[in-house]
Amino acid sequence: MISRRNLLKSLGLSALTLPALTSLANQAKETGELNPADPNFWKNVRNQFALDRDTVFFNPGTIGAMPKVVVERMTAHLNYTATHTADWAYKDDNKEEYISGYNNLMSLRTKVGKLINAEAAEIAMTDNVTNGMSYIANGLTLQPGDEIITTDQEHGGGLSSWKQKEKRYGAAVKIVEIGKPCVSATDVYDKIIKAMTPQTKVLMLSHMISGSGAILPVKELCAEAHKRGIFTVLDGAQTIGHIRVDAKDIGCDAYVGCFHKWIGAPPGTGFMFVKMEHLKTLWTSVSSYRWDDHADEGFRFTQRGTGNFPVLKGLEAALDFHFELGSDRVYERIKFLGKRLRDGLRSIPQVKFFSSNDEAMCAGITVYNLEGWTGAKLQDMYWEKARMRPRSQGDVFGVRHCTHIFNSEEEIDKAIALVKGWAG
Ligand SMILES: Cc1ncc(COP(=O)(O)O)c(C=O)c1O
Repeated sequence: MISRRNLLKSLGLSALTLPALTSLANQAKETGELNPADPNFWKNVRNQFALDRDTVFFNPGTIGAMPKVVVERMTAHLNYTATHTADWAYKDDNKEEYISGYNNLMSLRTKVGKLINAEAAEIAMTDNVTNGMSYIANGLTLQPGDEIITTDQEHGGGLSSWKQKEKRYGAAVKIVEIGKPCVSATDVYDKIIKAMTPQTKVLMLSHMISGSGAILPVKELCAEAHKRGIFTVLDGAQTIGHIRVDAKDIGCDAYVGCFHKWIGAPPGTGFMFVKMEHLKTLWTSVSSYRWDDHADEGFRFTQRGTGNFPVLKGLEAALDFHFELGSDRVYERIKFLGKRLRDGLRSIPQVKFFSSNDEAMCAGITVYNLEGWTGAKLQDMYWEKARMRPRSQGDVFGVRHCTHIFNSEEEIDKAIALVKGWAG
């Protein structure tokens, strides 16, 4: 249940940006609290998104939907920089918000630190996951024969910088098959631990596999890797703004993420977190004045030449929007809708699942196909019949169907009914 205090707190933002929620404030005044599954509450949250009313968006795993306030904040700052460029005195990059590449972005880094439970000094802003992972792979020194362990289901943006390390420096990338669907967290854990040897120097894993939605047992794996002196880095492209991420609790050495999927920030926004003991010695891949200035380690990596401040203003608005709702509430809603979809689809015998049958490994991503269908056919049918947009995963794996806070129970039920009809 949402306490009255918390609801009214979230309505603090509403007073500025979410006027539709004021009726909920009145309701909360009367009842003292509000059920978080209340369709009215989520309908009003849905109204904060610019998404077209005639279509249904099920693909934040590729690119997210921006709340209106994000677009407003971004365009307002774009207008400001276009209008007031002459006002810029070039005196203090950290105060004058015209180009981002020379600003330490401390306020944003602090918010990202709050989001993942890390110190701002250990956070660098990047453009996306691919950048962050490349900065880490290129910044570490590995020798020929050193091993990097990873899974057979990594995204190219997380894996490729390690493959380059293999080709260029002779380090070996060792791929562990974890199953699709994954059977259980224990099974994944056992398979990965079995692959570790005294030569293993890095463990790189997706926290959540993009092609199945499986949440991997990263805390347990990082603990074992740590005992063996293995550097651990997690790809959080699918987790940030989706499931709760606590870098300290997980105990990983590094974590990279983006905000343009589940947080709903403008495209081209990401971060990397590296524990201070490792960040100090990591080489920068993109170097400017601060490349060797260790006064602010996160700034060494954040300083990457001229960047786009309006986009970062949009990111800040997206983070504020997320905090106003609360990470736990967002997760609960996503999981509630994801489980509703899986439960419905599991009642159809012709549906083949690539998401795990272990519900503990699942949240808002469900990957499935209909017997004899391709992903392209399923994707096209959803669009033709109902203007719904999940994403094809190729011939075998069907579609990746994501649920988010802007979706409704009705949309999920309609999707299940469609699949039931197609199954015959
Ligand atoms: C697991 C995973 N890693 C990396 C990426 C690449 O992310 P970005 O485009 O932010 O670099 C994606 C994108 O879908 C992904 O799902």
